[in-house]
Amino acid sequence: MHSEYKKLIELSIKARKFSYSPYSEFSVGAALLTKDNKIFTGTNIECASYSLSICAERVAYSKAVSEGYKKFKAVAISSSADDFTFPCGACRQFMAEFGIETDILLVKSKSMVKSFKLSDLLPGVFDKKYLFNSKK
Ligand code: THU
Repeated sequence: MHSEYKKLIELSIKARKFSYSPYSEFSVGAALLTKDNKIFTGTNIECASYSLSICAERVAYSKAVSEGYKKFKAVAISSSADDFTFPCGACRQFMAEFGIETDILLVKSKSMVKSFKLSDLLPGVFDKKYLFNSKK
């Protein structure tokens, strides 16, 4: 485990503090490490019009990308569940836009972490190559 990942794991747990999840009461925290070692955190934000809710991972990515960061080493994900929480399908696709080899750290506690490559969680990804190679 890279040393900078320790901080990332802790920040993913802390990020849950700001979860706005009055409907599910399920809090998720994400901490995203850029290639140049900047960290952006995110938490889930729900909405009375349920389908407008947004996951912690996409909040963290959106914060980073909207500030000019598009290359990432890893994202740590923590939740209020007792078990490791895998990112939902929509988040896997969204994260893949910015690199399929990003490390995904699933955090159960500071010392219990499972690690995957995003490519392991999203085989056969639909990506930009389809759009650039399509017949017009
Ligand atoms: N949620 C996330 O934040 N990330 C995921 O990858 C899965 C689900 C949130 C969305 C919603 O606020 C709550 O968890 C219950 O689905």
